[in-house]
Amino acid sequence: MCGIVGYIGKKTAQDVLLNGLKRLEYRGYDSAGIATLDDEEQPHIARSVGKIAELEKVVAKEPQTGHLGIGHTRWATHGGVTEANAHPHHVGNIWMVHNGIIENYKELKAELKDVEFKSDTDTEVLAAFIDKNFAKGTSLKDAVAKAVKKVRGTYGIAVFSPLEPGKIVVARLGSPLIIGVGKDETIIASDASALLGYTREAVYLNDGELAVCSDDNVDVYNLNLKHLSTNTETIEGDLAQIQKGGYDHFLLKEIMEQATTLHNTLSGRIDPKNGTMHLGGPNLTTKEMKDLRHIVIVGCGTAYYAGLLASYYMEQLIPDITTEVVIASEYRYRSFHLPEHTVALIVSQSGETADTLACLREIKKRGAKTLGVVNVVGSTIAREVDGGTYVHAGPEISVASTKAFTAQVVAMLMFAGMIAEVHGGNKSLISQFTQELAILPKEIEKTLNEHHDTMKKLAKKYAKYDDALYLGRDTAYPIALEGALKLKEVSYLHAEGYASGELKHGPIALVDDTFFEVFDILDNWLFEKSIGGLHEVRARGGHALVLTDAVDKEIDADDVVRINTPIKQLVPILLNTLQQLLAYYVAVERGNDVDQPRNLAKSVTVE
Ligand code: G6P
Repeated sequence: MCGIVGYIGKKTAQDVLLNGLKRLEYRGYDSAGIATLDDEEQPHIARSVGKIAELEKVVAKEPQTGHLGIGHTRWATHGGVTEANAHPHHVGNIWMVHNGIIENYKELKAELKDVEFKSDTDTEVLAAFIDKNFAKGTSLKDAVAKAVKKVRGTYGIAVFSPLEPGKIVVARLGSPLIIGVGKDETIIASDASALLGYTREAVYLNDGELAVCSDDNVDVYNLNLKHLSTNTETIEGDLAQIQKGGYDHFLLKEIMEQATTLHNTLSGRIDPKNGTMHLGGPNLTTKEMKDLRHIVIVGCGTAYYAGLLASYYMEQLIPDITTEVVIASEYRYRSFHLPEHTVALIVSQSGETADTLACLREIKKRGAKTLGVVNVVGSTIAREVDGGTYVHAGPEISVASTKAFTAQVVAMLMFAGMIAEVHGGNKSLISQFTQELAILPKEIEKTLNEHHDTMKKLAKKYAKYDDALYLGRDTAYPIALEGALKLKEVSYLHAEGYASGELKHGPIALVDDTFFEVFDILDNWLFEKSIGGLHEVRARGGHALVLTDAVDKEIDADDVVRINTPIKQLVPILLNTLQQLLAYYVAVERGNDVDQPRNLAKSVTVE
């Protein structure tokens, strides 16, 4: 979603801002802009609809020479996708960029009768409020503090004024802001990836804080303007991780690097010799683990499906614990009750998803322990949970989540394995899962390499259809849902995931020869039942693509892709990697913007 970059230092601000905005492109956006202050303290602004490349064209016509500036990528919420609605916004003596939503902007607007607004945005209203306070002779810092106190909603803002040159004031509530501290330069960003290559030292602003940044100083305050002490933290990751590394798209890179990233997820956490798993981060005492009776898993999108798959494994490993998986956007408003001895797993790649974060806060209010299953280090969810585990998948740039799914499932499985041990669970089952995890990276690599060309070929064929059904049973059901989500996200084909057993309860009415169906079929005790659905679809003219680990069973389908693997329990993870390749190549075939699909955002920081 929206992204913020700011710069003060010796470099030409426009170059750092444009570079930073490009790093944030992956989050999804529809317009962009920068504003800088030149050395004569004159402000300059450039904005455009569309990609950063369009903004670069505008800037190239009138290059900006200043060494201080702010930039923004906008994902429209209030007001259409127009240049006037793009950030930065300028009101009076204030230039400002904003992430988040000012829910009471209409009320605030009503108080500003004398302001002539140039956009339809909530941001401009806040800028006008800051300007109004500023005009009364207060400092920029005080003007910002006073204005944001009036806000209901969320914000991450960066503001400058020619009347206080050499300064950018930033503030946050529910929308991340990181202040990179370099040598004689300060770089502000809503996402650490924009800071890589400039500095590794950063101050993470907390909710309800504002900071005054200059090229050699960062002063942090609360909204009552009490000066706070600051800690710099080290940013993880390097530039190579946010580059395509020879692949055409980040999506393909992220699918193909799953074996490597999974190594990082597993590193130091499994002991195949003793058949055990252990996570350090959850911070649960042995008593808390022993007492545990209820696990609730919360997430959105792919993170939710990862939770769903993990819950099937949890039920096997810890049968004395009730596991519940919920969609964050629903759960946050439900009158849910959490029994004693509940632990909530808050699953989020970005660690910033608004609904997931809201659930975390609701669950905390009810007194349950919250554990994060998060990828982005230092993200808001990671900072607010009681404990948890980083999944260590590395930066995921493509909007559609792939390697994070795999890492999330595995991290939750290790959590379950650890709890199972304390609960006196089935040792041979725990050991079997551990052995499978140990070879999973190698098996993923083998699967991706062996079937890459086949999936590419099949994608060419199935890209011609407009509708798809994904069907799976048991642990293949969550991946049927995830497969359909992946396909619709990047290819824009209509795709639905269903439990195979539900086929007769509705979806079969859709089947004719304009549809294709992806069957995720596991070679286990449910094989015959899954095949039943396949026959029913074929009898109605449907075109079936079967993904399976059954190497020697007869399967009557248009196409069958068979994975030959010693893995049994974790086969769905392998089948899912094939679905990822299918979605990727269908999207390429249809000429889509694979890494930044239309209308989608990488991290949904507004409701
Ligand atoms: C967006 C992304 C999805 C992601 C979901 C949850 O919809 O496009 O890829 O699964 O948000 O994001 P999170 O960062 O919380 O895992």
